[in-house]
Amino acid sequence: MELTTSPLFSMASPLSPWLVFVLLLGSSCYSIVHATGAERYRVVTPSSLKPSEICSGHNKVIPSKKSATLPLTHRHGPCSPAIPKEKTSFEETLRRDQLRAAYIHSKVSRNASKELQQSAVTVPTSFGYSVGTAEYVITVSLGTPAVAQVMNIDTGSDVSWVQCAPCAAGSCYSQKDTLFDPTSSGTYAAFSCDSAQCAQLQLDGQSNGCLNSQCQYTVQYGDRSETNGTYGSDTLRLTSSDAVNSFQFGCSHSAAGFIGQVDGLMGLGGGAESLVSQTAATYGEAFSYCLPPPSSSSTGFLTLGAAGGASGYARTPMARFTNAPTFYGVLLQAITVAGTQLSVPPSVFSGATIVDSGTVITELPPTAYQALRTAFRNEMKAYPPAAPVGKLDTCYNFDGFDQITVPTVTLTFSRGAAMDLDVSGILYAGCLAFTAAGQDGDTGILGNVQQRTFEVLFDVGGGTVGFKPGAC
Ligand SMILES: *[C@@H]1O[C@H](CO)[C@@H](O)[C@H](O)[C@H]1NC(C)=O
Ligand SMILES: *[C@@H]1O[C@H](CO)[C@@H](O)[C@H](O)[C@H]1NC(C)=O
Repeated sequence: MELTTSPLFSMASPLSPWLVFVLLLGSSCYSIVHATGAERYRVVTPSSLKPSEICSGHNKVIPSKKSATLPLTHRHGPCSPAIPKEKTSFEETLRRDQLRAAYIHSKVSRNASKELQQSAVTVPTSFGYSVGTAEYVITVSLGTPAVAQVMNIDTGSDVSWVQCAPCAAGSCYSQKDTLFDPTSSGTYAAFSCDSAQCAQLQLDGQSNGCLNSQCQYTVQYGDRSETNGTYGSDTLRLTSSDAVNSFQFGCSHSAAGFIGQVDGLMGLGGGAESLVSQTAATYGEAFSYCLPPPSSSSTGFLTLGAAGGASGYARTPMARFTNAPTFYGVLLQAITVAGTQLSVPPSVFSGATIVDSGTVITELPPTAYQALRTAFRNEMKAYPPAAPVGKLDTCYNFDGFDQITVPTVTLTFSRGAAMDLDVSGILYAGCLAFTAAGQDGDTGILGNVQQRTFEVLFDVGGGTVGFKPGAC
């Protein structure tokens, strides 16, 4: 594939000034949770990997008061709000995923502007970046009176937006709810062009000038999908008891390149405009989520604030990028398959791994991927191989098997924090859900397939990322 072999992925090395490691040295901050070494295989039925048709609600224990917890669902899952389902093939999902990954790499690389231009040339216009792959949605409400809005969550961007009225013919994609109308809300206000919020947008390259004395924003997702409109604020209700006054967001009057239905996008990145940054004073610049696998009949959750206390997470230092403050990284150090650690030189892992809610498939440095693939194939000899699916090259035909025995795969991060993956985080569409990208030592991406069933804690203020298994 063109994108994986092109020099798009020349990344910052950890020694470069572009990558800043936020290390919290207090030993009490790390509860080192090791993989349960004894377990080498898991036995599942092939049908347990198939999407569930049933929704049984959510079973999250609602935590302490300095936090807000919302149900989180897969866009096409059984618990999702009634969004018309488009049929998206695995191949198409994977193609979009590749575009998103290329965009992220271009943002964290030193030569971002140059590489963005290159990637724009190779990207067909019909693919949406974020609404296409950011598959997890929350329902919040905006304005007074409050109007429900279904929004994708996205750790890969900062500015939140919803489509707003008026929208000229052809300027909005079709969505689930009627367009949010700021003139019908008693608490909406557009930012003036000389406001501090407008100046911050300018600083972050997301300003789109001034129209009728109102601040204009633009978000371009790197593959020609984009949204433009007015930057304003209104009351955001996360739950019936948690409101964010004067929440800053974009009122999109013109969007292109998205595949639609959701009403907007909630930016959870580390930049100034994100929901996380805006609510830092209330929730302490920390959030967590649990992404449910498609087979789950329960919802996952999004929690703002360090919910459930600090216990039970395997924590690892958070890496940040000075030239791309949006992204949250961790340092991968080892991969274990069926209890045996792969022999991979540490230099292969010298780049950080971005933990992204929207990328589907984890991208590893080539040498690490090859070692993983070899070990996995050795353990899976009982099953007939199947044709590759998109960029996934290690696929199996499980037809006729009542049970399948899958080797455990554990990712170990800096300071020993281990993620013993759920089977739904190892296999996707019958294939090993990992891929190789860039060169050894480049930045990798931890995709949402691997994060499934874990509560992933982004303790931005404390400088750690935590993983808690079996959370949804
Ligand atoms: C960035 O671009 C410059 C000029 O095109 C080039 O000399 C340099 O090697 C590039 N750096 C990286 C990290 O790709
Ligand atoms: C958004 O604004 C930019 C800059 O003004 C413009 O080039 C682009 O065509 C606009 N896109 C949409 C979808 O309106």
